[in-house]
Amino acid sequence: MRCSGIESGERARTSGAGMTKGRLRSLWAVINSAIDGGARAWEAERHAEQARLMFREGRAVPRHIAIIMDGNGRWATRQHLPRSLGHPAGVEALRRVVRLCDTYRIPMLTVYAFSTENWGRPRDEINALMNLFWETIRSDLEQLHENGVRLRHIGRLDGLSPDVQKAIAHMMDLTRSNTKLDLNVCFNYGGRAEIVDAVREIVATGVAPDEITEDLIHRHLYTRDLPDPDLIIRTGGEMRLSNYLVWQAAYAEYYSTPVLWPDFGHDDFVAALDAYATRKRRFGKIEEQVEGEVIAVGAATATLRPEHVVKNVS
Ligand code: FPP
Repeated sequence: MRCSGIESGERARTSGAGMTKGRLRSLWAVINSAIDGGARAWEAERHAEQARLMFREGRAVPRHIAIIMDGNGRWATRQHLPRSLGHPAGVEALRRVVRLCDTYRIPMLTVYAFSTENWGRPRDEINALMNLFWETIRSDLEQLHENGVRLRHIGRLDGLSPDVQKAIAHMMDLTRSNTKLDLNVCFNYGGRAEIVDAVREIVATGVAPDEITEDLIHRHLYTRDLPDPDLIIRTGGEMRLSNYLVWQAAYAEYYSTPVLWPDFGHDDFVAALDAYATRKRRFGKIEEQVEGEVIAVGAATATLRPEHVVKNVS
């Protein structure tokens, strides 16, 4: 784009005074984009430095963050836009947070993009969310794949259009071997529906009642291959789980912020990490018992993925 801007500026120079404005506009665009690029690089370096400090301090960092991306509709309304336009702004925030997970060496991120209860929203908004999901896979998949992101869909495929199902199968297949960051998208997901599906599967195996254990249930959840989330962030100020990862959240740390999802940025992300680092995770035991373990969790986290270098993905 920048090159074509310069070319049209060159043409303007040779074809009369009226076109000089065009050339100036092109130059201005090039200068602005250079300034933007410089500012982005400077900001990325500042974030990376902050992440390095965090690791040097040996702080506990969550291995798995799950996010309830709430507040898109309110954000749009505040901008005097239709509600549905809050969701594309939400995708921008998601892209930002994926980059931050890379910078802060968080190896797994799970986001709540469409709940089983969201089918109750106005038809227009449902269609907008379905299209957005499909469009985002189309536009971002290649770059995510190049950056080593493994994508998973979590939720029911039933009810999704064949196009969306195909896009999901493709994104999961393509990125299956990536190891840099796990990005799990809960789409057509409900925590209770997940437990119902697990119970149906278990009953179908004819297992005896006394063979039913927590571990067995875990092995029949959609998330059977994933660790439970360490930290659940909810934006938009509400203090509830809204049927999100209800089984897996049993021992997660919960963090709620009034910031609306499209506004969620670096400082909000770091505030959530800071809050997590101060939590004492006891897992039902007493403090003396877990003191060593908690430190070990933090240390293990820091070295979980040595290849997870501190740099900006985009
Ligand atoms: C809640 O905000 C948000 C959702 C129901 C959808 C979240 C979806 C995205 C951020 C897009 C994700 C897309 C991809 C491709 C993963 P709300 O509409 O309930 O906001 P409100 O509480 O202000 O009404």
